[in-house]
Amino acid sequence: MSNVGMHNKERELCLSGKGVTKVFGTGSKKVVAVDNVDFEFYQGELISIVGESGSGKTTLAKMLLDLIPVTEGQILFQGAPRDTSTHKKKKEYWRGIQAIFQDPFSAYNIFTKIDTVLLDCIHMRGGRRLPKQKKIELMEEACRFVNLEFHELTNKYPFELSGGQQQRLMIARIFLLKPDILLADEPTSMIDACSRATILDMLLNLRDETGMTIIFITHDIGLAYYISDTVYIMENGRFVESGTADEVILNPKAEYTKRLIDDVPKIYEEWDLSTVEL
Ligand SMILES: Nc1ncnc2c1ncn2[C@@H]1O[C@H](COP(=O)(O)OP(=O)(O)OP(=O)(O)O)[C@@H](O)[C@H]1O
Ligand SMILES: [Mg+2]
Repeated sequence: MSNVGMHNKERELCLSGKGVTKVFGTGSKKVVAVDNVDFEFYQGELISIVGESGSGKTTLAKMLLDLIPVTEGQILFQGAPRDTSTHKKKKEYWRGIQAIFQDPFSAYNIFTKIDTVLLDCIHMRGGRRLPKQKKIELMEEACRFVNLEFHELTNKYPFELSGGQQQRLMIARIFLLKPDILLADEPTSMIDACSRATILDMLLNLRDETGMTIIFITHDIGLAYYISDTVYIMENGRFVESGTADEVILNPKAEYTKRLIDDVPKIYEEWDLSTVEL
C-alpha cells in the first residue's frame, strides 16, 4: 500500500459524486442499480470498489465514464460539475478517463490492426505530427512495458492474440494514453493467476510512474486489501462502508463487509495437514 493518507488535506480531488443514482426500467421492471452513493476519489489513489455480483459496480463505472446518464445526483471532475453536454466536451473528458473492461475483446474494433490500435493512442495524445520513427519507438516502449514484442504484433489483428496478450495490449494502450484516471473493471478475470499477478503489477507500476488514479472494481476483497489505498464496499447499489484499506478490512463495521471477509478462502487452513491421519 502506498503512503497516501486518508486525512491529508493536500490531496487533489479528481472524481467525486453526490447522491449518484441509476434506475433502470419503470413500474414492476424498475431496478435501482445504484442507489444514492457519495464518493471522493483523489489524484494518484488506488481505489477498490468491492461487491458481489449484481451490486451495481459496472453500472457505477459506466456512469463515471459517461457511457450512460445518471438518473439522479451529480458527478464532479476535479471538483467542478462534469460537463459533457457537447461532443467536444465529451471527447475532452474521455482523454482524462480510460477504462479496461472485463472482456478485453470488446475493447477493440476487430478490423483494426494492432499497430493501428497503438498508433491511434499516440494520435489521441496529440502525437500525430511526430516523425514515424519516434512513433515506432513509443509503440515499442509501450509493448516492452507489458512484455509484448512489437515486431511480432505488427500486421496482426487483436483476435489473433491470446486472452492474456489482449489484456496486456490494453495496458500498453493505457501506457500510451496516460489518462488521469484509469477505471479497471475486473481486468484480470479471464486469465490465470500468474498473468493476473503480472498485470496487477503492471497497473501498480503505471500508477507509480504516472501518478494516475486507478479505480479497481472487483469481487475479491483480499485482492482489494493487497493493492488499494481506499476501499468502498458496495451492497445492493449502496456503499455500506468506505475508508482506508486498513480501516475497512482490518476493522470492518458493516455486516456485509464482515461476510465478504469471511468468504475469503482460508488457504492456510486448507493446507493445514496436521489433522490429517496418516
Ligand atoms: N441495462 C440494464 N437494464 C436493466 N437492468 C440492468 C442493466 N444493467 C444492469 N442492470 C441491473 O442492475 C443491477 C446491477 O448490475 P451491475 O452490472 O452494475 O452489477 P455488478 O456489480 O457489475 O455485477 P458483476 O459483479 O456480476 O459484474 C443488476 O440487478 C442488473 O441486473
Ligand atoms: Mg460488473
